[in-house]
Amino acid sequence: MKESEKNTYIEEYQRSLTQPEEFWKDQANSIAWYKQPETIQSVDEQGNTQWFQDGILNTSYLALDYHVEQGRGDQLALVYDSPVTSTKKTFTYAKLRDQVARFAGGLQRLGVEKGDTVVIYMPMIPEAVITMLACARIGAIHSVVFGGFAPHELAVRIDDAKPKVIVTASCGIEIERIIPYKPFVDLALEESQHQPSHKIIFERPEQPVELDYQTELGFYQVMSTGEAIDPVPLKSTDPLYILYTSGTTGTPKGIVRDNGGHAVALKYSMGKVYDTNAGDVYWAASDVGWVVGHSYIVYAPLIQGCTSILFEGKPIKTPDAGVFWRIIEEYKVNTLFTAPTAFRAIRKEDFEGSHLKKYDISSLRALFLAGERCDPATYDWAVKMLGLPVVDHWWQTESGWPIVANMLGLESFEPKAGSATKPVPGYNVQILDEEGSQLDHSQQGYIAIKLPLPPGCLPTLWNNDSRFKSSYLSQFPGYYATGDGGFIDEDGYVHIMGRVDDVINVAGHRLSTGEMEEIVSSHKTVAECAVIGIHCDLKGEIPLGIIVPKNDSNLEPADIEQELIQLVREQIGAVACFKSIAVVQRLPKTRSGKILRKTMRQMINGESYTIPSTIDDPIILDEIWEVFENKNLLKKELV
Ligand code: COA
Ligand code: AMP
Repeated sequence: MKESEKNTYIEEYQRSLTQPEEFWKDQANSIAWYKQPETIQSVDEQGNTQWFQDGILNTSYLALDYHVEQGRGDQLALVYDSPVTSTKKTFTYAKLRDQVARFAGGLQRLGVEKGDTVVIYMPMIPEAVITMLACARIGAIHSVVFGGFAPHELAVRIDDAKPKVIVTASCGIEIERIIPYKPFVDLALEESQHQPSHKIIFERPEQPVELDYQTELGFYQVMSTGEAIDPVPLKSTDPLYILYTSGTTGTPKGIVRDNGGHAVALKYSMGKVYDTNAGDVYWAASDVGWVVGHSYIVYAPLIQGCTSILFEGKPIKTPDAGVFWRIIEEYKVNTLFTAPTAFRAIRKEDFEGSHLKKYDISSLRALFLAGERCDPATYDWAVKMLGLPVVDHWWQTESGWPIVANMLGLESFEPKAGSATKPVPGYNVQILDEEGSQLDHSQQGYIAIKLPLPPGCLPTLWNNDSRFKSSYLSQFPGYYATGDGGFIDEDGYVHIMGRVDDVINVAGHRLSTGEMEEIVSSHKTVAECAVIGIHCDLKGEIPLGIIVPKNDSNLEPADIEQELIQLVREQIGAVACFKSIAVVQRLPKTRSGKILRKTMRQMINGESYTIPSTIDDPIILDEIWEVFENKNLLKKELV
């Protein structure tokens, strides 16, 4: 957008808070409803905010059919580039619409109806996107489970979502190994109480698979038996998907996303945050198993009429640290979105940018980073290498779209490394103290959002509204507690300093240390344990297990370590990166028995810390220090 056509940020932000109904009514006009909403904001029977309650629409229609009707049928909607299989495929809007419509018909033939759930456990392949959009087309609620999760995690989600069918692939492909998805699904179903009526499997040449063709059907078999069907009109408030995310316990939280608020918020974000329009090429280098993949690989770029890139590879080693630049050149990518980890990986392999020099990336207009804190060194390197706006923006699975960003399509501000810039319109971001009082500029506290949350954010948790309220709304009445801590400086820039709960971000993947503690504690030799997130130059954070073995344990510490690493890998999955363990004799605690996790984390990360006055026995900290030192865990200089 031309600078002269843009509103000022402050004008738009203020209006979104003082006249939210008018503001969001205007934004709602930018999508094609079957029935335009008249009620903009209301409250449901559980007392939760709902948006556009009487509006009728279909997200698959907005993402596909609408563009065909607008004459964009021959434009590329999806480009699949898979260096791990040396495959490339393209889908125009017309082709993608046809395949989605037929797969939706196939699902319907299997008895999947509006309101049913479908679990998708798939790698980064077009069939995953087709399945998501096919569910959206018939009003079935999809729940994508990230492929890096182990069968146990899948089983937990199956039991909560109770899918009518599961859609999977024979395998996923990591850099050096094949991930047996179909066998993982079978293992998960051995563990889960709930059983779906059918499994639909996309067979990949890298891993053939035997199907029984009764309850196990081939992906294209289902598609070919389905009649192409039209999008089903849905209420704005009907759920589009459930996406499970880590909370502080072993039970993940099923974030619910509606149809109407989601579509309006994503459309708004594409223009105002990302400054990306119909016909542009948008690439979110993430995974469909995460919220970034849902919002910015699948729904937002398609709703906006962009070409979205689906990349099945890694920033390095597929085949080298130049693959991002190759993709940008080859498909003339305009907007790139990834996690800082990806740039840390590229920077580590190719600090001088020698790969970058081989490619023409002049199509690229901006880089957006999110998912974890962006360290200033990585930020500065990205700016130096690209010479383009680099936008660190902050959001969560719960919000579904950015909460704080430098809005390139509205008014951009001078960036400050370490800050995600300013709250996005619709989000009244405040910093609160323990008691819920607002703190002054630059004082660090809990980051909370004054209710109501804007469209697109979670209306509740799947089948668990009481957990929704207790997890997010009860800590600070009248506010949504984000789980992050930070401050707002005198210029209104928001600085995110990290989680204030037991959630860590490993390579941009959100994981629960509380869950890891539950698993580690279940091992027969462990008397007690703490799992903390410690700094990692590549992945931002990695988990460290600090364990106290039982007195009668006759296993060697090295054997305990191996068994625990294996246990967490089996229960959560490789993605947990649980690879470091320190065996200690005692854990430091307060007199009331609270383990001093924060103090241990600060010790390891080389941060200054004060020994709490409530500590039970300060000598334990000296013992622990020695163990950390011997294991070479104490942090040297951060990069
Ligand atoms: N299916 C199965 N296994 C997976 C997986 C998937 N989709 N994704 C990751 N894993 C496995 C990996 O193979 C690895 O297993 P290993 O311990 O046996 O080696 C483990 O999970 C950890 O994966 P990852 O954290 O991705 O580490 P990596 O060393 O393979 O790669 C990076 C490191 C930095 C290249 C990688 O993390 C990356 O590309 N990050 C980009 C950030 C990103 O996409 N974030 C998503 C949220 S926006
Ligand atoms: P997820 O729900 O997986 O997207 O993870 C959300 C969490 O990631 C947030 O609560 C933050 O802790 C962290 N996060 C996301 N983006 C940023 C960012 N730009 N800066 C700092 N932390 C971030």
